[in-house]
Amino acid sequence: MKWMKFFCLILVGIGGFRCSQQEKLSTPQMELQLPDAPYKYQVKGVTDQLPTLGRVLFYDPRLSLNNSVACASCHKQSFAFADNSGLSRGYENLVTVRNSMPIQNIVSNIFSTPGPVLIDPGFPVTTDSSSVPGGYLPGVPADVAPSFLFWDGRENSLESMVTKPILNHIEMGLPDLEKLAAKLSLLPEYKPLFSNAFGKEEITSEKIALGLSAFLLSIRSNNSRFDKAFAGTQQSQLTAIEELGRQLFFEKYNCNQCHESHGFANIGLDVNSIDPGVGGFTKNNHDLGKFKIPSLRNVQLTAPYMHDGRFATLDEVLNHYSHGIQASTNLDFRLQDQFGPKHFEISDSEKKAIIEFLYTLTDYEMVSDPKFSNPFRPKSQ
Ligand code: HEC
Ligand code: HEC
Repeated sequence: MKWMKFFCLILVGIGGFRCSQQEKLSTPQMELQLPDAPYKYQVKGVTDQLPTLGRVLFYDPRLSLNNSVACASCHKQSFAFADNSGLSRGYENLVTVRNSMPIQNIVSNIFSTPGPVLIDPGFPVTTDSSSVPGGYLPGVPADVAPSFLFWDGRENSLESMVTKPILNHIEMGLPDLEKLAAKLSLLPEYKPLFSNAFGKEEITSEKIALGLSAFLLSIRSNNSRFDKAFAGTQQSQLTAIEELGRQLFFEKYNCNQCHESHGFANIGLDVNSIDPGVGGFTKNNHDLGKFKIPSLRNVQLTAPYMHDGRFATLDEVLNHYSHGIQASTNLDFRLQDQFGPKHFEISDSEKKAIIEFLYTLTDYEMVSDPKFSNPFRPKSQ
């Protein structure tokens, strides 16, 4: 291959030809392995073939310009589909501007309007209404309205959101979705996947978006220990320290005022936020430094924390609420008292209890479920 590299160097010198892509394309290491009958995804209004297609797209690095980065590179199942680094690396090794977010319990009405036209009406779809996603916390019903996506909430349509990372110049870098549809049309493994999902093997950008959306919607968390304890099933109760943490969270420090519903807040991380957050796209000064209130489901697995990944541990997060809240002009009223920023002064033993409680929100089933795992395996020789 040495001469290839040399040849490439010359070409780079001449016209910015992308050699690394060419090399990667010519290393056929992975093959697709799917179960004979599709997994049960239970996304209301679609067949299981649609999320099956979405799963493959989600894990396929060929969705990026140089075949190096998949959605799953920054959204890893074992970390509740978040990333374990503060900022993530895109297809050319540049870093994202924000911390990758977990993917779970996304709410969208995309498949509830009578049949997205592109799905073959003759196929059996899931109508089971018991497959409602879990809410922000156990006991909180999932919102029926489409939720806002990204740290600044700039997208509220899942279908249009899912393809944004593919076009993002830092994340996956494709120039347009038609190019992606054309690229996938040349890959033989996609033909049966599209034809199973849509009745036709033709690949379009809309179908790519529907497949990815269906897969994302299928990722639900409602099997944590706290879910089970909340549902009052026999074998699951919180331990004494977890229960103490629960009381501190819900009753003493009222963390649930924010963390059990969608919304945005400025929590005083900085006096002047470098990242404008919601204000960046509403252009309203009152929104500067406001970010999406994250669900704390699986928070044990999603370190580092906050929109910029500034805190490495939950202990550091609690130190912020304890004595670090800054007097930002848009500081949320729930984090102020008559003297200014509230300092919760959480004791060490209380911090420990709150963290133990937060750990009960970890859903080990979701993060190990094969139906959400990488379908590409190293090729057996
Ligand atoms: C290079 C890393 C990277 C890649 C690749 C990537 N993402 Fe993301 N993702 C992020 C970051 C960072 C954010 C937060 C961005 C922001 O708020 O501005 C995010 C946010 C999201 C969210 C919003 C979650 C929420 O609760 O609001 C979804 C959904 C998502 N990504 C899906 C995808 C899909 C689907 C793909 C593949 C098509 C993908 N991502 C590829 C890094 C990445
Ligand atoms: C005023 C609303 C509000 C209150 C009250 C609040 N939070 Fe938050 N919390 C947020 C917002 C908004 C963020 C994200 C901020 C950012 O990244 O800029 C956040 C982030 C977090 C994170 C990091 C999550 C992640 O994925 O990065 C944890 C953990 C957390 N809060 C725990 C708590 C605890 C424990 C309490 C109670 C002591 C609490 N919060 C009270 C709004 C609130």
